[in-house]
Amino acid sequence: MREALIRPSLISANVEALHARAATPQSMLVVKADGYGHGALTAARAGLDAGATWLGTADLDEALALRAGGIDAPILAWLIGPDNALAEAITAGIDLGISSPWQLDAVAHHATKTTPATVQFKIDSGMGRGGLTEPDWPSVAVQAKEYERQGLIRVRGVFSHLSLKSTASDGAQLERFERALAIVAEAGLRPDVIHAGASVGSIRTPGRGYDLARFGISAYGFALTPEHESLGLRPAMRLSGQVIVTKRLPAGHGVGYDLTYTTRSDTTMAIVPLGYADGVPRHASSAGPVVIGDRRFQVAGRVSMDQISLDVGDYPVEVGQWAVLWGDPAEGHPSAAEWAAVSGTIPYEIVSLLGSRVPRVLA
Ligand SMILES: Cc1ncc(COP(=O)(O)O)c(C=O)c1O
Repeated sequence: MREALIRPSLISANVEALHARAATPQSMLVVKADGYGHGALTAARAGLDAGATWLGTADLDEALALRAGGIDAPILAWLIGPDNALAEAITAGIDLGISSPWQLDAVAHHATKTTPATVQFKIDSGMGRGGLTEPDWPSVAVQAKEYERQGLIRVRGVFSHLSLKSTASDGAQLERFERALAIVAEAGLRPDVIHAGASVGSIRTPGRGYDLARFGISAYGFALTPEHESLGLRPAMRLSGQVIVTKRLPAGHGVGYDLTYTTRSDTTMAIVPLGYADGVPRHASSAGPVVIGDRRFQVAGRVSMDQISLDVGDYPVEVGQWAVLWGDPAEGHPSAAEWAAVSGTIPYEIVSLLGSRVPRVLA
């Protein structure tokens, strides 16, 4: 009665189009948060099929799950916690993103000469979030070189992430990133991959993604900039629920919690079993677009935990019919970006919060 149809071929097509535009030698598909809700393994395979040479995760466990699923491509995981299974990650050949001096020491502590760790420095070039801050760059680089000499680690990459506030602020970040790269080089480190751009940064200035463009939301089909618009990206997730109840209500009848919606005339209400526990934002109450057949409706009243109500008027709707909340606009379905707009959020949040109760069905 609920379904998220996932179309790996669209992820592949999106990755191909993005990579061609980014004009970087390599690309990474970011599959954190269960592949932005699409299924991490499904997304990973689709990305690799399309020529991506790297996968990116936030957590180590996400990276280990990819290895357990048979993925042997290079993986970078950039959120390292004090209780993480570092030895396991090192053995599994996961590149570990280093955002703090303690992480470098912890990784070296768990590495051995026979199984050295591969790390990538995450540089805070101005976003003020994760990443090594400027005062730490020289000492971390020197220490890493020492660990390299001891045969415990190898610094394979250096990367950064952009705030996207403006092209000017991103430019300033990239200048600062260059200073970090110079310090890394001075310490005698020779990383293979330098990367800075994600969906927006790598496309806004082709070639400026350095060796590797990291694609997340755009690979799942969401355009954030005019440059993305021209690439024909298509959303790879379609969320649908089956109508489980239809009922006639008279004019003037309240609907849902707090009775925030009132029927204007005698009408048919259709109940669809998707709610905020499934990732349908409550902020889209009385606003979220839903398509049944060839008609578009709006959520009537509050989104509940497990259901939404639709006022379909006299449109013939039957139990069992599928209602599409978000999918591919090219097929007449609302985009998750529309749900984001009416909920005051971004498409990232809509797709990545898709609930575990919704089966992912591969097309
Ligand atoms: C380090 C890093 N790279 C790449 C991405 C992907 O970003 P986007 O989804 O905007 O492409 C993220 C996502 O937050 C990230 O944290």
